[in-house]
Amino acid sequence: VASFRAALAEAVAAHVREHSGAPTVGLIPTMGALHSGHAVLIDAAREASDIVIASIFVNPLQFDDESDYLHYPRTPELDVALLGAHGADLVFVPDIATMYPGESRAPLVRVSAGELGRRWEGAARPGHFDGVVTVVAKLFNIMGPPAPARLQAWFGAKDAEQVAIITRMTEDLNLPVDIRTVATVRDELGLARSSRNQRLDETEYAAALALPAALFALREDAASGRALGLADQVAELSSAEGVELDYLVVVDPGSLQELQPGGALLDRLGILRGPALALIAARVGPVRLIDNVMLTPG
Ligand code: PAJ
Repeated sequence: VASFRAALAEAVAAHVREHSGAPTVGLIPTMGALHSGHAVLIDAAREASDIVIASIFVNPLQFDDESDYLHYPRTPELDVALLGAHGADLVFVPDIATMYPGESRAPLVRVSAGELGRRWEGAARPGHFDGVVTVVAKLFNIMGPPAPARLQAWFGAKDAEQVAIITRMTEDLNLPVDIRTVATVRDELGLARSSRNQRLDETEYAAALALPAALFALREDAASGRALGLADQVAELSSAEGVELDYLVVVDPGSLQELQPGGALLDRLGILRGPALALIAARVGPVRLIDNVMLTPG
């Protein structure tokens, strides 16, 4: 921690010497096993922030399943090389004792995501979002730059609930950080990039394409002013071969609560009246996939 903070202070001081004004520091928190979805975050930060820093830490607090934690892919050398190739200035790779000192290897005082942390992914993975906000708050504190630099933190829209919850945490706790979001990176056929996709065989991969297909159909309904065909999409996915649907819902982007017909965002006929988020999760073969799109009324 001390050597990272000293290097960051030096980078800020050098920037202040060479340029006038207060630099922005772009932080990209990751759990490593980086792929092109992560690379886009680094590129976006490189474009918008003066100094780019990233962290690689597989955070045990956010895994509800011990074996999932133990089997999480770890490729630190490749990750550091990718970060460097995309122009990151500094990388923080703490070990577990650095983040969670003490025998229990867990903090006593934590951040809670409250009821936002118990919806959708939070319901499927109890404690997950509390673990995420706790580690993200620690990373903001450890990696936050000295004055006059300002911290920006970059997150992928792929994890829409995560973005909503982290945004809410920074407001509720007055954290001095500006949250930036980068659009989801998809492969040629529309599947959101994830390190888990590697574990899909050919048949499973084909089945997984039903997830983005359902989301894109809802997006099209919203854009063309039609009633959202949510029930039809749910029915189709529920009978799709090889897909075990957990949820497909349309929610308020801030509260993450499901829209009710006749409410402010959805009229009685099911026509969308304001921006909303369609969230999906399903098991396909050996993996649980999540995805989402923003719905904008046309
Ligand atoms: P991780 O899963 O490593 O993801 C790091 C960042 O990359 C997240 O902000 C995630 O949304 C983004 N990302 C992953 N795949 C993406 C894709 N296909 N398109 C756009 N962005 C993508 O999310 C975490 O780590 C952790 O919860 C973390 C925030 C680091 C806290 O431990």
